[in-house]
Amino acid sequence: MCGIVGAVAQRDIAEILVEGLRRLEYRGYDSAGIAVVDGQSNYQRLRRLGKVNELAQVTKNTSVIGGTGIAHTRWATHGEPSEANSHPHVSGDITIVHNGIIENHVPLRTLLESRGYQFLSQTDSEVIAHLVEWELKSATTLIEAVQKTAAQLEGAYGAVVMNRLDPKRLVVARSGSPIVIGCGVGENFLASDQLALLNVTRRFMFLEEGDIAEITRHEINIYDASGEQVEREITESNVEQDAGDKGKFRHFMQKEVYEQPTAIINTMEGRIRPGEVITESIGVHAVEILKKVEHVQIIACGTSYNAGMTARYWFESLAGVSCDVEIASEFRYRQFVTRPNSLLITISQSGETADTLAALRLAKERGYMGVMTVCNVAGSSMVRESDFAFMTRAGTEIGVASTKAFTTQLTALLMLVTALGKEQKRITQEKEKEIVDALYALPTQIEKALSFDKQIAALAPDFADKEHTLFLGRGEFYPIAVEASLKLKEISYIHAEAYAAGELKHGPLALVDADMPVVVVAPTNDLLEKLKSNIEEVRARGGLLYVFCAPKAGFESDQSMKIITLPHVSDITAPIYYTIPMQLLAYHVALIKGTDVDQPRNLAKAVTVE
Ligand code: AGP
Ligand code: GLU
Repeated sequence: MCGIVGAVAQRDIAEILVEGLRRLEYRGYDSAGIAVVDGQSNYQRLRRLGKVNELAQVTKNTSVIGGTGIAHTRWATHGEPSEANSHPHVSGDITIVHNGIIENHVPLRTLLESRGYQFLSQTDSEVIAHLVEWELKSATTLIEAVQKTAAQLEGAYGAVVMNRLDPKRLVVARSGSPIVIGCGVGENFLASDQLALLNVTRRFMFLEEGDIAEITRHEINIYDASGEQVEREITESNVEQDAGDKGKFRHFMQKEVYEQPTAIINTMEGRIRPGEVITESIGVHAVEILKKVEHVQIIACGTSYNAGMTARYWFESLAGVSCDVEIASEFRYRQFVTRPNSLLITISQSGETADTLAALRLAKERGYMGVMTVCNVAGSSMVRESDFAFMTRAGTEIGVASTKAFTTQLTALLMLVTALGKEQKRITQEKEKEIVDALYALPTQIEKALSFDKQIAALAPDFADKEHTLFLGRGEFYPIAVEASLKLKEISYIHAEAYAAGELKHGPLALVDADMPVVVVAPTNDLLEKLKSNIEEVRARGGLLYVFCAPKAGFESDQSMKIITLPHVSDITAPIYYTIPMQLLAYHVALIKGTDVDQPRNLAKAVTVE
């Protein structure tokens, strides 16, 4: 689920492998390891609990020599994070790394133990090493042994196998976890994400589900799930090379928060023109599909789910199309009913989130009129498996806490809703122009919201010593409050809850006292007066309020209430705009708490396991 890097080259590759792991650090991990073999079968394996930097140090000090190798960052699913559980795992001359989960590892372990294999880790992955070792006794080639092993595995994996006695090749299998092959000159590479290899190549081949490939310095032979040899197209990557550089910023998250005006410009480029949204820019069949849509089902996880929840208000209020939003891990295991002419939309930054991807695959069998994805990663599984993809173009997001991915998702969804309403003749030309004008104004308005950084930083100490916080919003600002609470809990480890403000009196009000800061997202809209009553409910219980609102909202700062007045923006784009101060607040609280902002504990960037 985290990171895999591999290489077959003439030069020593340890440094390249470790650099690759570094570039994948943003995905989150708990341990790292590397195994390298040279032409004479001299072999070294190093593993470390903790950061890639420690592995890098020990790799340097040990001077690891050899041109063939594999490296891994682990995000533990089976067995605690420890050196013994970290990858690579070994069985005789076989070394493996694995991303994902082997679901039938228990019976396989029993079988392998009965064959005399001794397990040295608690991981599910170790069965792969022993199975390949066993199969190689009767197979004529390593790839045949891997094919026979793959046939016995259930679950999701991207796995790479290396044989110490045959150091000229690596065999890699993809089933449920992404693998990309990087093509060099007289050397070839592989990784779980192209970002890991951008310093060595820009030419990539994406393995498809079920593919198993053999990689040598000069050849790449790929076999599909049925064992047929297949060709996979080589594509030139246009991902920015410097995405892994923090530049003048202290954290990737901070950099990504500040990148939002540009990211949103990129999201809109070629998709709107003065007065209108260009429906065709959404996808080849967008016009014909959007005309027929009677219902939208959104599936996503985490921040992407919050984007879906916000978009639901837009789908119904602007386009007049009913919309349901569900968390992927619930949807995929529920007996759901497919509505007539329903369009399924997955929203995902990574395009690899296991639950969302599984829901997408399930939906394809269950009578949806189409499956669309709103995604940030080109070439990701969701993009490839959807009928059409609407790319958010946020650029690489490295901070585990999603920021620019969220606001670009919202921007993309607002354009989609507008196109849908227009194709269904429910949005007038006038309304379309109003939306598009609001979109054009947004990047500059976000610049202005970012200039509130200092003012928001000044509020952060009030939160840093608290154990609990409450976020309130109403209407489409309720999911914005939810996203704000997710940001704060993720990076500052402070318990944060979000409530639709009208729900307060049905329970959470009991929690309110002077130790519980309450943040209110309170832009001027139809619900402002109702929200004001909710605010009074909090005040009456001695709660401390932090109200983010527009000019002339009628709030006055006093001892129990701090008012942060942001410049006025259109009601339509206000949910995107009000996200910015919430991100800044979470960031400044985390800075005071001294947490690992970019890689918060226990979290991973791309959750490619259930
Ligand atoms: C965001 O801050 C989170 N780390 C997380 O909730 C994330 O949004 C979720 O895992 C979904 O990821 P995706 O968008 O890549 O599918
Ligand atoms: N399931 C394996 C383990 O726990 C692999 C985890 C990963 O994808 O990093 O070791």
